Amino acid sequence: MGAATSATVIVNVDIPGPVISRHLYGHFAEHLGRCVYGGFWVGEDSSIPNEGGIRLDVVEALRELRIPNLRWPGGCFADEYHWRDGIGPRADRPRMINTNWGDVEENNHFGTHEFMALCELLAADPYVSGNVGSGTVREMSEWVEYLTRPGTSPMADLRRANGRDEPWRVPFWGLGNEPWGCGGRMRAETYADLARQYATFCRNHGDNRLTRIAAGASEDDVAWTEALMRAVDDLAHGPFPALPFEAVSVHYYTIGGTWDAKGSATRFGDDDYWRTIVAAQRIEPLLRRHIAVMDRYDPERKVGLVLDEWGTWWDVEPGTNPGFLYQQNTMRDAIVASLHFDVFHRLADRLTMANIAQTVNVLQALVLTDEETGALVRTPTFHVFEMNKVHHDATSVPVHVRAPLAQRDVAGRTVPTVSASASVAEGRCHVSLTNMDLEHPVEVDLDLRGVSARDVSARVLAPSSVRSFNSAGHPDQVSPRPLEVVEAATGARLTLPPHSFAVVEVS
Ligand code: AHR
Repeated sequence: MGAATSATVIVNVDIPGPVISRHLYGHFAEHLGRCVYGGFWVGEDSSIPNEGGIRLDVVEALRELRIPNLRWPGGCFADEYHWRDGIGPRADRPRMINTNWGDVEENNHFGTHEFMALCELLAADPYVSGNVGSGTVREMSEWVEYLTRPGTSPMADLRRANGRDEPWRVPFWGLGNEPWGCGGRMRAETYADLARQYATFCRNHGDNRLTRIAAGASEDDVAWTEALMRAVDDLAHGPFPALPFEAVSVHYYTIGGTWDAKGSATRFGDDDYWRTIVAAQRIEPLLRRHIAVMDRYDPERKVGLVLDEWGTWWDVEPGTNPGFLYQQNTMRDAIVASLHFDVFHRLADRLTMANIAQTVNVLQALVLTDEETGALVRTPTFHVFEMNKVHHDATSVPVHVRAPLAQRDVAGRTVPTVSASASVAEGRCHVSLTNMDLEHPVEVDLDLRGVSARDVSARVLAPSSVRSFNSAGHPDQVSPRPLEVVEAATGARLTLPPHSFAVVEVS
């Protein structure tokens, strides 16, 4: 380990910012590889303990995170999914081919009722992605009615015939997915008009209120966001003012290599690590560019920005189906997650929801399940979500960091080695701190302005290597432990180990 460096982190506890919606800690479950089948769902006859076919160990792990919402059924799969194939007796449900992901058979055993039961077990809000690419307006409209309509109506009666009397509450509704790509290869204006049309027929039934989310840009395609915002603007100022949809989305994945050669999740060099850090940090300027466009059309911030796919994307693990996107997850992934959350906390006045891709067994998963033994593993990313849950619905406060720069240039950039964000809630302040340096610990002076600290404690995620990961044989290689923190005149002082993430609580 190298000699310690030092950093100052100033937290303005007395300058409250926006509320950090818990929905920034949202999730995503697609019919892709072993996310749904084998991940969430094993079926009622499985020897793995389950409730109505839903894995109880996965539910128990995710409840530790208080996951706020779950996006389903896609992703690309959403625009090929026909919801009526996934209701009624399972044995009678038609089968289809999942052409997006592995060309495997989909038996539709996990459908609407199973998803809503899963959300109930998780105490998470459902975020349903409707099919614009290959569906119809009527199909989407009837799905909303089926899920949310109280009393008697054709779809409410059908739901009842399938065993569910009361409507469900569905707060979030996606109008297709990636329409510029797998969702239909549309141009922005074409899709913007379709989004308005589909959204018109996604009704608020009873007391259910939908946040309708228009499928947004890839990465920094601000022209796409602009087309959507123009579609908002001229309707909002037309003869019958209305918001066509309440939010627009954007997708951004952290790719350390290139799309053709993304690199291994576990076997990477220091240069690969720093390239990944720089790729992850692109998220802030990228979101700010979309927000700048939105601010021009919607200065009152009535329309939310939703980052409904984010996370690392590596080459699949050797020997696994390339279409299943199964990857391991190291401390590097945990650091990518913590950097994203710092940005989410800063931008929480416009960024209203975010969904990591994906919760179980796919891409930057929080939970991995072993295909043969069924064993469940919590990934390093899981622990970042767990440690950071203190920020759910808390008030963001400004943070200023003075920290050493990384000792290497990456693509002409030198990055500061410490990232931080903070919030206050119920008389407590929480500061999240990441030390990206691979060799040097950093002594952090936490300067808390506007509060006098009484009790200070901290937990840290600091494995022996940034390449450390958890597996069935070693489930706790990367897991949080208490971190020593001492009170100081201005606040607190602590030492962050190399490649570590910590959360400090001050009360
Ligand atoms: O998360 C995997 C895929 O990535 C999703 O299906 C798609 O929306 C995106 O391209």
